[in-house]
Amino acid sequence: MRVIITDSYERMGLEAANIVAGQIYLKPDSVLGLATGSTPLSLYRRLIAVHETVGLDFSSVTTFNLDEYIGMEPDSPHSYHYFMHEHFFDHINIAPENIHLPSGTAEDMAAEGRRYEDMIAKAGGIDLQVLGIGRNAHIGFNEPDVKFEATTHKVALDEETIKANARFFDREEDVPRYAISMGIKTIMLARRVILLASGAAKAEAVSKTLCGSVTPKAPASILQLHQDVTIILDKEAAALLPKEIYGVRIDNYG
Ligand code: F6R
Repeated sequence: MRVIITDSYERMGLEAANIVAGQIYLKPDSVLGLATGSTPLSLYRRLIAVHETVGLDFSSVTTFNLDEYIGMEPDSPHSYHYFMHEHFFDHINIAPENIHLPSGTAEDMAAEGRRYEDMIAKAGGIDLQVLGIGRNAHIGFNEPDVKFEATTHKVALDEETIKANARFFDREEDVPRYAISMGIKTIMLARRVILLASGAAKAEAVSKTLCGSVTPKAPASILQLHQDVTIILDKEAAALLPKEIYGVRIDNYG
């Protein structure tokens, strides 16, 4: 695991954008795995800026998002479909047919999971997966006590996740209780992974991910076994890491 510690949330996004942009320059038809939530917004803002200023070309890029709430229509403002269009896809030149999110309204979630996995396989697999992390160390919506061998499937959200995501809804009762999410196996099969974390609320999850045992109780800890992972943090999210952690690059941005 490589670890990059930056001074701020915006710098975290900039470091991540450099990696994603580099991936697209080297392989214009890259397959990207994408995340929603607050964490990747600085990454998406930066990628939009690179697209607008130097023409980073998304026309051959294919994307697969990690997850979607069950029961959520794609055009609902609370859906991850909507979120991705609003914060990223509507601002770049990606082909609409190359955008994929699991359907939260499929009749049969097991079949939808298989369909999603087939589409990822047909696209050639994920070249670069972008991840955020939950306070409980979830990745995607793979909550503690996850089965590491799972592929895309229906998941029940943890109480902690429901509370954390209530900020996007009027009332906590409105947060969906279920989602469809790529599984840990789907994520582990990506050729490269970048995980972003920002803020003190993520420090414990980050410490468990990097320094704890590999355990289903901290789903992100499985990333210790992935061959190509870069963890990009702001200093608050890195606060509980031991100073001597190897591979760390601390950026002294002004
Ligand atoms: C989002 C996702 C989640 C989030 C995580 C952190 O698609 O799969 O794992 O990355 O819950 O969310 P934020 O960034 O809002 O703190």
